[in-house]
Amino acid sequence: MCGIVGYIGTKQAQSILVSGLEKLEYRGYDSAGIATIDQNKIDCVRAKGKLQNLRTKLETSSNSSPIGIGHTRWATHGKPEEYNAHPHTDTARRIAVVQNGIIENYRELRDNLKTKGHEFRSDTDTEVIPHLLAECFKQGAVTLLDAVQKAVHQLEGAFAIAVLSADHPDELIVARQQAPLVLGIGDGEFFCASDTPALVQYTQVVVQLENEEIARLTTGGYQVYNFKGEPVKKTPRTLNWNPIAVEKQGFKHFMAKEIYEQPAVVRTCLEAYLDPDWTVDSNQSPIKLDLPESIYENLEHIQIVACGTSLHAGMVGRYLLEHLAQIPTFVQYASEFRYAPPPVMANTLTIGITQSGETADTLAALEIEIFRRKNQPSAKQARVMAVTNRTDSAIARLVGTVIDTHAGMEIGVAATKTFMGQLMAFYFLSLEIAYRRKTITNQRMQDLIDGLKKLPSQIEIILESQEKYIEELSHSFLDTQDVIFLGRGINFPIALEGALKLKEISYIHAEGYPSGEMKHGPIALLDAKVPVVAVAVPGTVYEKAISNAQEAKARDSHLYGVVSAEDKDAAEIFDKVLPIPHVDELLSPVLTVIPMQLMSYHIAAMRGLDVDQPRNLAKSVTVE
Ligand code: F6R
Repeated sequence: MCGIVGYIGTKQAQSILVSGLEKLEYRGYDSAGIATIDQNKIDCVRAKGKLQNLRTKLETSSNSSPIGIGHTRWATHGKPEEYNAHPHTDTARRIAVVQNGIIENYRELRDNLKTKGHEFRSDTDTEVIPHLLAECFKQGAVTLLDAVQKAVHQLEGAFAIAVLSADHPDELIVARQQAPLVLGIGDGEFFCASDTPALVQYTQVVVQLENEEIARLTTGGYQVYNFKGEPVKKTPRTLNWNPIAVEKQGFKHFMAKEIYEQPAVVRTCLEAYLDPDWTVDSNQSPIKLDLPESIYENLEHIQIVACGTSLHAGMVGRYLLEHLAQIPTFVQYASEFRYAPPPVMANTLTIGITQSGETADTLAALEIEIFRRKNQPSAKQARVMAVTNRTDSAIARLVGTVIDTHAGMEIGVAATKTFMGQLMAFYFLSLEIAYRRKTITNQRMQDLIDGLKKLPSQIEIILESQEKYIEELSHSFLDTQDVIFLGRGINFPIALEGALKLKEISYIHAEGYPSGEMKHGPIALLDAKVPVVAVAVPGTVYEKAISNAQEAKARDSHLYGVVSAEDKDAAEIFDKVLPIPHVDELLSPVLTVIPMQLMSYHIAAMRGLDVDQPRNLAKSVTVE
């Protein structure tokens, strides 16, 4: 959460910083600001709200400074007001700082700094940093690097910072402690950013900073040090990013574009993880996940930790792992696992799912798992892995073993195509484990593979045939305040996902329930004003799901059915049907989620809401 950028070179920093922030707005959009050095002074411009407000303020600026830092904020400490926007400065306004993360001991530091005469102007935790740096100079620090080295030792929490000083106008200092930070290496110009999309239009050569590292950037080069002050040798790597991929490409919103990219995500995963030459007579696995053997050895249990949409993918994953591979699987909110982990079980694989690879709760849950296994002599070493869309992320570095979801950069805050990639990861993982445990026949494997291969074109059929219809239908949700989503079995997580998508972007209250659970209380909510969206596709729970839907209809709810296109009775039962092509029940979540995504997208767009950047949210949740 929050995005930071920095630039030092020969060009005008202002426009580079603003365009970098534009690519980081997914991390937060409560306020934005930049600081540059102009005529030997810090020139700090900040604006409440979206980046556009900052742009408007900068329109008349003639500042051509070639050095600066910038920030886009997701408010944690202090309201989203201009006075809380970054950059923050010291009392004399000679030092400016942007930060992503949380300084946990800021109160104590602030109280102490106040007694020494430092004047605070915001409610943020970040503001302690420029004052602390000023204090370090007072206490004898000579260089900016020296001051930052001294200051970081006093900061507790997870943070990434970029520092600018009017008294040291030829350098930029950045530091990282558990929040992401990457350097961009150009020709006589250097960048820093919370994430690579901010850099790719300027340079594809990057250096990842690790925890407890500080870097000094000048126009002549960069040098990285650890927090002890020892130089660290870093090897730059070259990204293979297409800057176009982070544009809307004719779609009105990123979310719409990303919904439409899902067939391609499935195709990419099929290419990456399926052996094209496998036949039903083969005597080896058709799955090519390339995970270490230690992941599978004597495997008895799997536990999955994740948040939000990733958790829903994990719930589908649990169903697949238990059904196909017969392996007991537990799914837990990462934020709950952190403080109430289940007892350590032997021969257990722990999987963290996170599209961003940065979610603080998921990272912490995995860290706890690794730590407690190391400290339990009876338990085997932690067996942890991640399912992520960012193979260069903090989670990937923490666990080492990952399944890449191959979804490409997702900008819309509401996860769609990354969810699809996560589902794919669990199809391949559960099939691989099932193959190894001999809980699946080659024929069933072949049938499921055939089914998987059909999915991209089946998604395309839904998108082509349903889009207009769902757009029209969205108008009936103009005054809706509550919606209930129902699903059973493997489609219960899809009901949860449908509800989450709707509430996060349209601000309509929505709940997902297992269909059979309605009668145990929630059915009391139903009346003509509360529509119900029910998944009822052929399979083990079809009849039951239909009965549960009818119970809702009997309470006057308007009933929407996500049903098989071959279901001839559906039109009699449901007020509106959202048909999907016929599919094996185990594969159905890949298709049933599509109408849900389209519904939430069109309802939010019809209401004129900011689909890609819904209020109060951010794409990467790096705070607890
Ligand atoms: C919902 C959404 C969030 C994320 C959650 C976890 O559309 O995007 O619920 O799924 O914040 O994020 P990651 O997957 O990055 O750990």
